[in-house]
Amino acid sequence: MIVFGGSFSQGLAEEVAGKIGCDLGVATIKSFPDGEKYVKIETPVEGEDVIVVQSTQRPQDENLMELFFMLDALKDQWADVTAVVPYYGYGRQDRAFAAGEAVAAKTIAKHIEVGARKFVTINPHKDHILDYFDIPAVAVDASSLIGEYFNEWELNQPVVVAPDAGSRDMAQRVAGSLGCECANCEKKRLGPGKVVTSAENITLDGNDVLIVDDIIDSGGTIVESAKALRSRGAGNIYVACIHPVFTGNASEKIHKIADELVATNTIQTEYSKISVAGLIADAVKKI
Ligand code: R5P
Repeated sequence: MIVFGGSFSQGLAEEVAGKIGCDLGVATIKSFPDGEKYVKIETPVEGEDVIVVQSTQRPQDENLMELFFMLDALKDQWADVTAVVPYYGYGRQDRAFAAGEAVAAKTIAKHIEVGARKFVTINPHKDHILDYFDIPAVAVDASSLIGEYFNEWELNQPVVVAPDAGSRDMAQRVAGSLGCECANCEKKRLGPGKVVTSAENITLDGNDVLIVDDIIDSGGTIVESAKALRSRGAGNIYVACIHPVFTGNASEKIHKIADELVATNTIQTEYSKISVAGLIADAVKKI
């Protein structure tokens, strides 16, 4: 087996190769002056099982083209390719919310399977994205890693809180691994980065609160939840997510109101202290 990493996922690809105990492949990836991408696979791969690790965060479109070129070039050289996309960009456009809208998550699935024979991702925004693939496709749940991380902390009567009903299942799993209570705020989205949140149904008495979400993008959801929970009597507020998209000054905004911010390394940031490499290694061995 050989693991290749796209330009934004090299560190994670190296870790995955280390966990599997196999080589890291070499590819030349560059951009022409007009912005077009160039990919050349340097390591011989004929007849090999190959993993390509590439998250498709900002710059999404560049990272996607890189991924498509890598998968197809590997297929052209007779490799058996598994695409690992730890963060599935465009995952929030998982269906047409209005007539005529492109279902971006589906279009991307169709392009991935041009070169890949199997697909692995981590906590997609909606699980039904997997149904857009006609190749074996699995989603790995990294929420237990958040539970394990905070198990090392001495939290005071912790409560795990989802910022909205949609993240409740994930919060429940984190609470399960911490052995504590779970609750969720109510969120209404007014527009991109603009939400109103209430926590009227949650009563706290100095309890430490761990807010968990799949994605933090503008940070608006987390900041509004943290404010609501403070007003309900929260003690320390910790924040964790799987995918730290962090647009603009999201992390700074969260730091002003929360005591800790941590994420996984599906997207590499300074807050990505939880590694998903072991989960990916296990998943590709199984699939
Ligand atoms: C939405 O359904 C997601 O689970 C996140 O809550 C959302 O993407 C976070 O966005 P933002 O950080 O911009 O509020």
